[in-house]
Amino acid sequence: MGVLKRYGEYLPVTKKTPAVNLEEGSTPLVLLDRIGSSLGIELWGKLEGCNPTGSFKDRGMVLAVAKAMEDGASAFVCASTGNTSASAAAYAAHVGAPCYVLLPSGKVAMGKLAQALIYGARVIAVDGNFDRTLEMAREASAKCGFAIVNSVNPYRLISQRTGAWEICESLGDAPDLHAIPVGNAGNISAYWAGYKEFRERGRSKKLPRMMGFQAEGAAPLVTGMACPVPETVATAIRIGNPVSAHLAREAVRESGGEFNSVTDAEILEAQKILAARGGIFAEPASCAPLAGLIKLKKSGLLPEGSRVVMVLTGNGLKDPDTALSQVEKPVAIGGTIEDLMEALRQ
Ligand code: F0G
Repeated sequence: MGVLKRYGEYLPVTKKTPAVNLEEGSTPLVLLDRIGSSLGIELWGKLEGCNPTGSFKDRGMVLAVAKAMEDGASAFVCASTGNTSASAAAYAAHVGAPCYVLLPSGKVAMGKLAQALIYGARVIAVDGNFDRTLEMAREASAKCGFAIVNSVNPYRLISQRTGAWEICESLGDAPDLHAIPVGNAGNISAYWAGYKEFRERGRSKKLPRMMGFQAEGAAPLVTGMACPVPETVATAIRIGNPVSAHLAREAVRESGGEFNSVTDAEILEAQKILAARGGIFAEPASCAPLAGLIKLKKSGLLPEGSRVVMVLTGNGLKDPDTALSQVEKPVAIGGTIEDLMEALRQ
């Protein structure tokens, strides 16, 4: 069941809203007990990479596209570090509307680029970082009347709250800590709004502390200053001036949480741990929370025994190049059984 159907009563869906549905949402929440026990916590991973385009963006995109169609939109535009463009392109294709996507040239993982192209979007590679592409997309939206489906579109964040509701329904309540990567800062804000709304509706009792993790080279919410030249291996969160910074700061302040940063080396190490000790392949940005939890554990700041949910925002298959650069090459052998026996002995 897609999110418009599953949570229609909590979303601004009317009789006139087209029932757009790629069966997004309802993603698995997986107990990662081997990793959790080494950190002294109960650790859960929300597998947002299981969404139809392989990232959490589909939760918000479905409502943004449905409402734009309801309002008579004829085309969509977005700026993206990759996942938003894949999602926008897919939903635009599904409803039969053109989609223009602006990407920071050379800084988008291969799988995401392939997605936007194969879904039939018009892909434009801009000589500039994400922050600049977003300014340009907003201008193009105003000039050409395209519906913008970045998280400046309020429906995106409204519908991304569904992730928090699913977690509360799966666990019976909110967790103690909610760990999440932060780029343009929309998702952390949406989750916080979702947790609060569910509690107000009497559907949950607790509120989690919101722990937002950024890459050290693109950590404006940690340093408190916009970062003019963001750089990180986690290209999804290579963002220097987050559009929803004010909402994210509020979420962290209200919940008693924090922002923290992790290095690229820590992110890549966490990616390997998640894969090799959890059986989950997530893209680098999605591994920032695990890197952050490991960092907190090392400094004695991770509350023992707490229930922690981390949002694994995107599928690892989107960025195979980065993963391959971190592992050994396959063992190459000839075609005899002796060759195989020799290889197995090593
Ligand atoms: N994780 C992944 C895999 C992402 O693609 C993004 C953002 C984030 C985390 C951060 O979420 O921006 O709500 O704080 N990707 C956007 C994009 C910017 O264009 O795909 P955020």
